[in-house]
Amino acid sequence: MPTIFVLNGQSATLDADPTMPLLWALREIAGLHGTKFGCGMALCGACTVHLDGQAVRSCVLPLSAVAGRQVTTIEGLQSKQAKAVQAAWVALQVPQCGYCQSGQIMSATALLEKNSTPTDADIDSAMSGNICRCATYPRIRAAIHSAAAAAGA
Ligand code: FES
Ligand code: FES
Repeated sequence: MPTIFVLNGQSATLDADPTMPLLWALREIAGLHGTKFGCGMALCGACTVHLDGQAVRSCVLPLSAVAGRQVTTIEGLQSKQAKAVQAAWVALQVPQCGYCQSGQIMSATALLEKNSTPTDADIDSAMSGNICRCATYPRIRAAIHSAAAAAGA
């Protein structure tokens, strides 16, 4: 049975097994490869997307769970907070290998869309589920502060 939902602002109909993880559907059916597969067990955050504005792990979310809802991937980020995050990531040269960074940006954007002036503790809490094997954490935190300042300006 097809699953109908809003994907990056446009109506999408994916004809796939409704138990398929959303990550699989995004990458293999919708052809959106910005969302990465890491652990497949909701442990690393590489697969983070937004579901109705909340950061969620698409590797453990069945496609059926997004029916009638709004899914945003790294390809569809539009908000001023998202633009500020992406600009800060470039300015501060956050990525190293880059593998985790799509998920990091999705979590950082979800945080700033809810909290325009996060503290270090807020950032650490919001980002705790996103693992970076290259340990870019100090640059991630600095970039989030920079993006918060830019988005609030
Ligand atoms: S791939 Fe989903 S949390 Fe690691
Ligand atoms: S930049 Fe390499 S895993 Fe995070």
